[in-house]
Amino acid sequence: MQTPQLMTELFRLFSVEVEAVQAYGAAVALLGPGPIRDELALFGLEHQRHALALQEQISRRGYVPPEVQPDVKGVVIGALRPPQRSLTAEDVLAGMRGNEQLTGSLYAKALAKTLPNELREILARIHGEERHHLDWIERAISRRAWEASGASHP
Ligand SMILES: [Fe+2]
Repeated sequence: MQTPQLMTELFRLFSVEVEAVQAYGAAVALLGPGPIRDELALFGLEHQRHALALQEQISRRGYVPPEVQPDVKGVVIGALRPPQRSLTAEDVLAGMRGNEQLTGSLYAKALAKTLPNELREILARIHGEERHHLDWIERAISRRAWEASGASHP
C-alpha cells in the first residue's frame, strides 16, 4: 500500500479507537456497579492502548493523528448520547456490540491490504482483542448476564 492510503487507514482506525474510548466511557457511566461494568471499563482501557499504539505508528511516519470529534460518524455510539429514557444494561450492550462489529470490520478490511510486516502484526494483535470484546458482549447478551449481576439499572 502507498503511504497516503496507509495513512488513511491508520487515521480511520485511530479515529474509531478514540470514539470507542468515548463510547465505553459513556457505557460505564450508564451502568451500575458489577461485573458487566468492570469488563466494559477494561475494554475501554484496551481501546485506549490501541489508540496509543496507532498514534505511535502515525507519528513515527511523520504524520499527526487526526483530531477526533465525538460522534461525527453517527454510528451506534450515538445511541449512548443523553437518553430519552433510561438505558438498560441490555441497551448498552447492544450499542457496544454494534460498535465492536464496526471496529472489527475496519480492522479486517485493513488487514486484507498489503501492509508492512511490523504494522500487520500490531493490527492483527489489536484485531484479536477486538474479537474478544465482541465475543464477550455477544455471550453476555445471549446469557442475559445483567439479570444475574443486578446491573440493569444505573
Ligand atoms: Fe473493542
